[in-house]
Amino acid sequence: MKNLFNLNRTKRKPYHRRSSVILVSISSFLLFFIVSYSQIPKSLFSIRLTDNRQPQCPAHISTAGEKFMWYAPHSGFNNQLSEFKNALLIAGILNRTLIVPPILDHHAVALGSCPKFRVLGPKEIRLSAWDHMIELLWTGRYISIADIIDISSLLSASTIRTLDFRVFASMWCGVDVDFVCLNEFDSQSSLIESLKQCGNILSGFYGNIDNCLYALDEDCRTTVWTYQNDEGDAVLDSFQPDEKLKLKKHIKYVRKRRDVFRTLGPGSVAESAAVLAFGSLFTAPYKGSELFIDIHEARRDALVQSLIENLKFLPFVPEVVNAGKKFALETIKVPFLCAQLRLLDGQFKNHWKTTFLNLNQKLEPLRQRGSLPIRIFVMTDLPEGNWTGGYLGDLARDSDNFKLYSLKENDEFVIQIARKIAAGGHGLRSQSSRRTLDTVDKKKKVCASRRLPDVLLYIEEAICSCASLGFVGTAGSTVAENIELMRKFDVCSTHSVTVS
Ligand SMILES: *[C@@H]1O[C@H](CO)[C@@H](O)[C@H](O)[C@H]1NC(C)=O
Ligand SMILES: *[C@@H]1O[C@H](CO)[C@@H](O)[C@H](O)[C@H]1NC(C)=O
Repeated sequence: MKNLFNLNRTKRKPYHRRSSVILVSISSFLLFFIVSYSQIPKSLFSIRLTDNRQPQCPAHISTAGEKFMWYAPHSGFNNQLSEFKNALLIAGILNRTLIVPPILDHHAVALGSCPKFRVLGPKEIRLSAWDHMIELLWTGRYISIADIIDISSLLSASTIRTLDFRVFASMWCGVDVDFVCLNEFDSQSSLIESLKQCGNILSGFYGNIDNCLYALDEDCRTTVWTYQNDEGDAVLDSFQPDEKLKLKKHIKYVRKRRDVFRTLGPGSVAESAAVLAFGSLFTAPYKGSELFIDIHEARRDALVQSLIENLKFLPFVPEVVNAGKKFALETIKVPFLCAQLRLLDGQFKNHWKTTFLNLNQKLEPLRQRGSLPIRIFVMTDLPEGNWTGGYLGDLARDSDNFKLYSLKENDEFVIQIARKIAAGGHGLRSQSSRRTLDTVDKKKKVCASRRLPDVLLYIEEAICSCASLGFVGTAGSTVAENIELMRKFDVCSTHSVTVS
């Protein structure tokens, strides 16, 4: 019987027919995406297999003997970073190899709102994230979160093990393709369709597979994960949907606090599965509790306790930290202030006045104390062409008092750093799985088809970590929170950096 994970691969076309094949595959690729986009979210719930055989465990997974953990990241970069930290923590507690995801496009996958009990369920968000990851590969825009966030010290200092998503996907789907250089020109859409299908299986749409896959249904509507906090099993969390909400939305959920190790660790059904799949790992403090993960210490587990300490801050890779330092030293040259002004996205549209007032309050004393003009590095989503007529325009015109700096995606400086990061390939090199090192070396080459990663945000955050006159951020922005964290950990001066 043919394994579900095997692909019906079409034979290679003779060379002289390649160009017409390319044209056909481009158009079928476009058609495929138009069709699949117009079907979202309906296609999320439609079963893509053509028959009703039970999926089996891919041979590569069942023989590996290793236990993996998968989750679905979503939303913007800084949210994905906080989920990545939660994932590393839980993988550490459960002693599983964490599959390291790529950085998803901003808003490509959205969770919804936990406090309103209106979220995409674990199955749906896993599938949505998987599909987007395959799309990133396919369009040459794939960049691992470990290409940007430096986890090398974490891997050497703890028992954490990681595996790159591309290596895992080729194991799970049983395909031997060059995932690093996969692109629309040399693959058929049947390959992409098969890749999406194995995402369907991983997401849990066909249920769990004995000893192979355990896809969790728990999310922030039902569960708050804890660890060793000595409360009874499955006690009610203090935050519950109120009666009004229950009636209005027909909510039957009850939020229980459950120990992640007792529920999913040794002795549980989940533990026997080679792959444990979570949905979102987003959490935030809410009304005196946590929305999904409430693990802040592990007094009786020294390893996990030190992991918690190490996860408080994960730095950017040296290429990014160095870029921030280089811009500060060579372009701005003197002490400067960083202003992070989020003005266009979502809720931030309505808070311009407060955001500018905060900046003004920081600038006035600086202006009176002397050493003019004051240098300000501005990171904002408002295009420079729109500054005139507003507070930023006023600052830019007042050249006696202020000198503004900013960066754009297509600045040569940013492009250079993007090239370095693409060539660096930290994501593939920093995996701890020795088993995959051969594939990694083979895949280290830079692909012609790859587009340069979008690295402006990371460089801007790194520059702001070097702003010795201070930092003004936008209230409620996760970008501001990350910059504050970098400044608290004194990234700019403690990481020895040689500017070349
Ligand atoms: C953790 O997993 C590794 C690899 O599967 C295994 O060798 C090790 O014994 C496990 N550690 C514990 C404490 O169970
Ligand atoms: C920015 O400027 C462009 C072109 O002048 C205009 O179309 C757009 O509405 C402006 N955006 C904002 C947020 O002011």
